[in-house]
Amino acid sequence: MKKTISVLAAILLVFGLAACGNKEGQEAKDDAPTTQSGSAREEEKAKDSGDQSGTPDPASDTPEAAEDDASSVEAGRTEQDGGTLVVYFSATGTTKGVAEKIAAITGADLYEIKAEQEYSDADLNWNDSGSRTTKEQNDESARPAIGSDAVSLDGYTTIYIGYPIWWGIEPRIMDTFVESYSFDGITMIPFCTSGSSGIGRSGRNLADNAGSGNWLDGKRFGAGASEDDVRSWIESLQ
Ligand SMILES: Cc1cc2nc3c(=O)[nH]c(=O)nc-3n(C[C@H](O)[C@H](O)[C@H](O)COP(=O)(O)O)c2cc1C
Repeated sequence: MKKTISVLAAILLVFGLAACGNKEGQEAKDDAPTTQSGSAREEEKAKDSGDQSGTPDPASDTPEAAEDDASSVEAGRTEQDGGTLVVYFSATGTTKGVAEKIAAITGADLYEIKAEQEYSDADLNWNDSGSRTTKEQNDESARPAIGSDAVSLDGYTTIYIGYPIWWGIEPRIMDTFVESYSFDGITMIPFCTSGSSGIGRSGRNLADNAGSGNWLDGKRFGAGASEDDVRSWIESLQ
C-alpha cells in the first residue's frame, strides 16, 4: 500500500512539473510582438533613417542654435564691415553693379555718391557739345555738388572707389568727393567701367586731388563684368 502511494505521488509530481514548464513557455511567447502596426512600422523606419533622410535636425532648429548661427555671421560681418568700404558713383547703373559685387565678395559696406542735381539723359549726352557733362569734363575746376549724406570713414582701412569713365577720365564729381575727405592710413583702390576706354590717368588724378591715402593701380571693367571677373581681380590684390 505504501508503495502504491509513493508511485502515485511520483506520477503527480512529474505531471505538475510538466504543466509549469508549458506555462512559462507560453508567457515568453506572448511577450514577443506577433505583428507590427502600420504606424509603429513607420515610426521605426523614421527612427532608422531620420538622420540621413533630410529630416530637420532638432539640435539646429532650436532658437538657441539659430541665435548661434546669427551671431557667428554677425561677428564675421562686423569684422569685415569695419575694415572695407566701397564708394561709387554711377549714372546709369553699370558701376553700381560692379560695386555691389565687390561688396558682396569682400563683405564691405557700400556708399553711393549721388549728385545733388541728378544727371538727366540730356545731361549725359556726349554728342552734345553743350551738355552738362561735356561742359563739366572740359572744365578742370568743375566740382559738381554731392547730394548724398556725408560718410564717416572711421575704422575703414580699405576703400574701393568706383566711377564711369567720362571723356577718358573720372567724372568731376569724383574730384568733389576725394577733396572732401582725408584718406590718411587708408588703402585706396580705384575701379571704373567704360564702353571701351581704359582707366587711363583717372586713378592718378584722384590720388593727386585727394592728397592723402595709399592709392593702388585701378582696374577697368566692361558692362558685362561677371562676379568671377571681379573676384579674380580682388584675389590678385592680396
Ligand atoms: C558723358 C559720358 C562720357 C563718356 N565717355 C566715355 C569714354 O570716354 N570712353 C568710354 O569708353 N566710355 C565712355 N562713356 C561710357 C561710360 O563710361 C559707360 O557707359 C559706363 O559703364 C557707364 O557707367 P554707369 O552706368 O555706372 O554710369 C561715357 C558716357 C557718358 C555718359
